[in-house]
Amino acid sequence: MTEVQLKDKRFELFIPEKVITKEIKRVAKDISRDMKEKIPLFICVLNGAFMFASDLMKRIDIPCEVGFIRLKSYQGTQSSGSVKEVQGFGENVKNRHVVIVEDIIDTGHSMSYLKNRLNAENPASVKIACLLFKPNAVKTDIKPDYCALEIPNDFIVGYGLDYDGLGRNLKDIYKIKS
Ligand code: IMP
Ligand code: MG
Repeated sequence: MTEVQLKDKRFELFIPEKVITKEIKRVAKDISRDMKEKIPLFICVLNGAFMFASDLMKRIDIPCEVGFIRLKSYQGTQSSGSVKEVQGFGENVKNRHVVIVEDIIDTGHSMSYLKNRLNAENPASVKIACLLFKPNAVKTDIKPDYCALEIPNDFIVGYGLDYDGLGRNLKDIYKIKS
């Protein structure tokens, strides 16, 4: 598919599955090397990161644990600025090496919130692994420690990311048509 229609908006193919997979393999290799013997706790940020987390975790070849947290900040095609924790996680993060698994860093508010939230529980370390990073949209001092792809400031869908709940199931990434 080169174009998709979701509600009132049209999207065009931007990053094909093949490219996504290649970059995720690289990130998995880097994390596996850096976290060897640390038994990291990966925290997948729902909903958007479910597909990325699944493909990433399959390629992590060291002992590790996986947990989930659910945050909400986006409304339509805009970051709302306020972050809500819709569902917390049960894992104890004290003295653990935590890797946050996030779909995309846009303004950085979500990651800033989650990093502070985790640091309050005295983990050994907190790193961020994201699928996508919009360096020109960031409004905080948040930077990913591991990043599959940097992209310009366009609104995108697919591979877990949605427009008003739709498009998460697409295997490729699409960007909004202006
Ligand atoms: P931030 O808090 O502004 O960095 O936004 C983070 C969250 O907003 C991400 O975890 C995504 O779920 C969502 N988001 C940001 N940019 C996009 C986009 O281009 N398409 C779909 N969702 C997005
Ligand atoms: Mg997200």
